[in-house]
Amino acid sequence: PFHIDDFKRELIDGIRETVGSRQVVCGVSGGVDSTVLAVLLKEAGVNVRAIFVDNGLLRKDEAQVVQENFRRIGVDIDTVDASERFLTALAGEGDPEKKRKIIGNMFIEVFWDAVGDAEMLAQGTLYPDVIESASNAKSKASVIKTHHNRVAKILELQAEGKVLEPLAELFKDEVRELGTALGIPEDILQRHPFPGPGLSVRCPGVVDKERLDIIRECDAIFIGKLKEHGWYDKVWQAYAGLIPVKTVGVKGDERSYEWATNLRAVVSEDAMTADWVELPPVILRETSHKILNEVKGINRVLYDISTKPPASIEWE
Ligand code: XMP
Repeated sequence: PFHIDDFKRELIDGIRETVGSRQVVCGVSGGVDSTVLAVLLKEAGVNVRAIFVDNGLLRKDEAQVVQENFRRIGVDIDTVDASERFLTALAGEGDPEKKRKIIGNMFIEVFWDAVGDAEMLAQGTLYPDVIESASNAKSKASVIKTHHNRVAKILELQAEGKVLEPLAELFKDEVRELGTALGIPEDILQRHPFPGPGLSVRCPGVVDKERLDIIRECDAIFIGKLKEHGWYDKVWQAYAGLIPVKTVGVKGDERSYEWATNLRAVVSEDAMTADWVELPPVILRETSHKILNEVKGINRVLYDISTKPPASIEWE
């Protein structure tokens, strides 16, 4: 029979053995995967440095929340504010795959600048990331998307045996279970997944600070309403994104010509498939009302009722 505590000990022993006296650097995002990874490394007692990159594509107040969460679990993190570098690199680019590549490569660049000459890299890659990326490599027809933790530079490092991915056989729910066994607080473990490329994949086409700020406001309102009504923990993932198409409306006495926001809330087992959630109408109504009243630049709120497949959870 499978015992999570045995599994935890095996992982920790494995890490200790593989790493030896080398220094390991890990990137942390504040998400469940990298948090569990950082705590595993801490428990293994290896020489570890945790780096948090603010890529300018984070949600509202996210950098502060992440710092506070790591303080609670006793892991020191170095925060690198690289917002300017990412947004400059992304400026004017509208192609989804190119955006992902720019973000992935910039992440590695910023990250290794911060690292100096560490001897190993640890990543919180999960099983679904591994198989989606493998199918990318095999067939052009099945190119889904280039996961940012599988870009060229990482592959080079991997070839040199310098990449440690202790979660690569696990699904999300198993990572959460492991996190519980490691004593990580539940509210941290129950955070919704958030993609590496951040709000970029929720901002179809060109990304800039104005668009990102709008998404941040809409998203904070939606997530706030889900929590207020006790629905945050009932869904796998939820967010507000931007539809950068202007439509006509009326605000006050004036004609408005503004963008739309799409709300998305899904349930899923492992992110490979997903179903949209029949949220109570009161949540949708209150969210829409608050967004339309408070967020400048938005005059239309839509709810995304697409299953995966054929849609994906994110918009890019
Ligand atoms: P899709 O949009 O492919 O998303 O249905 C499936 C799940 O994966 C997350 N996602 C990513 N996570 N790097 C990540 O770490 C990525 O590049 C990435 N793209 C999507 C997404 O949020 C969802 O949970």
